[in-house]
Amino acid sequence: MAQLQKLGVGFIGSGFSARFHLRGLVGVRNVEVNAVYSRSPSSAKEFSLLAEELGVGKPKVYNDLHSMLSDQNVNAVWLTAPNDVHLEYARAVAEEARQGKGNLVGVAVEKPLARNVREARQMIEAVKRAGLLHGYLENQVFMPSVVRGKEVVWGFGAKNAGRPYLARAAEEHSGPHSKWFWMPKVSGGGSLLDMTCHSLETTRYLLLDPGKDKSSLKPKAVYSEIEALKWLSPKYSSSLRERFGVDFQSSPAEDYALTLVTYEDDQGNIALAETRTSWNFVGAGLRLTVEVLGPEYSLQVNTLQTELFTFLSRNVRIGASEAFVEKQNADQGLMPVIPDEAVTYGYQGEDRHMVESFLKGRMPSEDWEDGLLIVQLMMHGYLSAEKGSKVKFDPGQVEDYTPGVAKGTWRPWRD
Ligand SMILES: NC(=O)c1ccc[n+]([C@@H]2O[C@H](COP(=O)([O-])OP(=O)(O)OC[C@H]3O[C@@H](n4cnc5c(N)ncnc54)[C@H](O)[C@@H]3O)[C@@H](O)[C@H]2O)c1
Repeated sequence: MAQLQKLGVGFIGSGFSARFHLRGLVGVRNVEVNAVYSRSPSSAKEFSLLAEELGVGKPKVYNDLHSMLSDQNVNAVWLTAPNDVHLEYARAVAEEARQGKGNLVGVAVEKPLARNVREARQMIEAVKRAGLLHGYLENQVFMPSVVRGKEVVWGFGAKNAGRPYLARAAEEHSGPHSKWFWMPKVSGGGSLLDMTCHSLETTRYLLLDPGKDKSSLKPKAVYSEIEALKWLSPKYSSSLRERFGVDFQSSPAEDYALTLVTYEDDQGNIALAETRTSWNFVGAGLRLTVEVLGPEYSLQVNTLQTELFTFLSRNVRIGASEAFVEKQNADQGLMPVIPDEAVTYGYQGEDRHMVESFLKGRMPSEDWEDGLLIVQLMMHGYLSAEKGSKVKFDPGQVEDYTPGVAKGTWRPWRD
């Protein structure tokens, strides 16, 4: 195929993350969103209208996936459907590309790559067989603060004083927006699977020497604790039943996860990644924090410490909204406002990188092998939490592993 001048994108899924990508694609050159396929035609229609409003395309709404994938104006797929269908759709995209009916060059999938290692491996096998480029959508490593922070840490701190030895990342909010997240047998897990994937890749990115290959930083051990701190209580589990119709009591998931990964670099230095994620943080809204510590330097990011705060008195009632920040919890008083969340959270950076990579026929810097490693680390995390001890990083032991949370057998620790 001749080199593409413009990338036509088709979306599978048109929900929360897909809409963030539309905002991320604003300001990215040489791309047009040309198609969307979703389980819900009304949400696909809304997505299409939003794309038009934002000026990123006029996507045709498809009710049949294969018709979308063979649309000659679709060169790449952004797979933004729930976790349980990542494998099915990755296979469908790969099969279509293998048969060569369409014009597909690449596929980008939202985090987590898959619910377990088995699924992740099958996805990778399918795209490799089809010769497709594959991007792993981990927005946090494209956050301008994280990218610039890494340049400063390594370009000034590490260069003069030695490599960073500790990276911390936390993602916390008050709980997911859709029913499927609250059904761990469907989603694959709780806050560890949903959000620790972000924190693990962000810390790995920051700890990795930018002048070296990713293989220079090797995981050696993983330790995790998971708990259900808020949503399993009778009051909050009934609120989930009312809001989503889910029975969280009979099949609970963790709403808190602590994970520590011990890495060793190619010089034998130890570096630690410390991650915390939760669905039980009540503050202004989503809070992403990142820290890096080295011998003579440190770095801090906190997305709720913005340059913009607004104050609305008690006489102003705007009602529940996410106008100021994602997962906003209050609508009055002093509130941080993130002027462009798609930029701050890294969607614009990652979408630009994926588009440019696919146009140039290059594998993106975050690909499905990275997604697989993160799934392996998370599976070690679940295993460690189940055993109650630190586990050696040994991928063979999680090859066929399904966490108890995903099987519905996990119960929080109660003496
Ligand atoms: N990068 C991030 O920070 C971030 C944020 C949210 C979600 N995500 C990831 O994005 C993916 C989607 O999450 P979301 O929050 O957008 O979910 P969502 O529930 O908001 O939207 C899901 C979309 O997929 C569609 N859908 C559901 N089942 C489908 C099926 N079987 N076939 C086709 N379409 C189907 C729905 O109609 C909806 O349009 C998940 O893998 C999630 O982990 C990433």
